[in-house]
Amino acid sequence: MEYQAKELFAKHGVATTVGVVVETAEAAKAAAEEMGGVTVVKAQVKAGGRGKAGGVKIAKTADEAFEHASNILGMEIKGLTVNRVLITPATPPEEEYYFSFLLDRANRQYLCIASVEGGVEIEEVAKTNPDAVKQIPVDPGTGVDEEKARAIATEAKFPEPVFEQAVAIIQALYQVFVEEDATLVEVNPLARLAGDKLEALDGKVSLDDNASEVRHPDHEAFVIREEADPLEAKAKDKGLNYVKLDGQVGIIGNGAGLVMSTLDVVAYAGEAHGGVKPANFLDIGGGANAQVMADGLDVILHDPQVKSVFVNVFGGITACDEVANGIKGALEILGDEASKPLVVRLDGNNVEEGRRILDELNHPLVTQVDTMDGAADKAAELANA
Ligand SMILES: Nc1ncnc2c1ncn2[C@@H]1O[C@H](COP(=O)(O)OP(=O)(O)OP(=O)(O)O)[C@@H](O)[C@H]1O
Ligand SMILES: [Mg+2]
Repeated sequence: MEYQAKELFAKHGVATTVGVVVETAEAAKAAAEEMGGVTVVKAQVKAGGRGKAGGVKIAKTADEAFEHASNILGMEIKGLTVNRVLITPATPPEEEYYFSFLLDRANRQYLCIASVEGGVEIEEVAKTNPDAVKQIPVDPGTGVDEEKARAIATEAKFPEPVFEQAVAIIQALYQVFVEEDATLVEVNPLARLAGDKLEALDGKVSLDDNASEVRHPDHEAFVIREEADPLEAKAKDKGLNYVKLDGQVGIIGNGAGLVMSTLDVVAYAGEAHGGVKPANFLDIGGGANAQVMADGLDVILHDPQVKSVFVNVFGGITACDEVANGIKGALEILGDEASKPLVVRLDGNNVEEGRRILDELNHPLVTQVDTMDGAADKAAELANA
């Protein structure tokens, strides 16, 4: 969120004003009173286009801050409910620039995007005036020293009165990018304020989750539990590799590659069944024992969008009979909570024994299909029933 991005900016010496984040209109009023003068009330949600949606308002008085905060709190922006607003002193920009560093996976390097025509959506500028948006590759090996920062500021055409400040801010933003293990650091607007002062008036930072546990235990503090998807939060608590998607067929598989192909196969099969789609990604990994299977099913069955579940397991180190016993155990653990049809496809190590265990179980919700395509088709059909 913006206020968190600004905290990181301040930590690394990027010129910005963090402000005060509050959750009630009363607290917004108190913060505005304390600040004195004109303030800005800004919706804090993880989405762009907050201003356009009416989530950024100027307040001349503390009472106005109260009023704006009451309107903005509870508002929905791109499907996200606003639970907090940021109060900052109003500092009207004379010019607005755009600046970002991001990970350019395709080219295996970093990319800096800069434009002196910022403020508005950069995607729009890129369409209408592509020459105004500079894309400057950054070699991760050499990074951004003062010389590189100067080259960037020159190419982006930062005007002379703020040029030296831009050089400093570019280096500081690069520090945020590399030292915090970010995949995106974006400032829009980077604003030229009265007296030619350059300041980050907004900020967005995406942190690399892969760095969070070992390299950045401090990033845990940025997680706002009630803002996370409840199913993803539950899966995370259980140590499951789960991503919520938008479809109707719940997916459980072992191995990321198999699960990815399962999503494709289900999406394809779904075309013949009312356009149903996969509801999630869930990789239960190698040890598909009863508890892991129960945890996975528990998360998926609590997704109200899910109409059927496809369990697609290829027995390798974990043999199919263990997986079948895992499914059996999971159904026992879940009892009445298991309420949606399961299509199971087992193959690989010890497949006969695995299939026999499920046949013997003869559970009313479980259908076995021997092939991946066939099982995907059955799961899609059941989801569309
Ligand atoms: N502290 C401030 N003082 C005066 N004006 C501000 C201030 N902060 C933002 N603004 C104005 O409001 C506009 C929108 O603010 P901001 O960039 O924070 O939100 P947004 O761009 O609408 O949201 P998002 O970045 O999520 O798309 C800015 O371009 C700027 O003109
Ligand atoms: Mg912005």
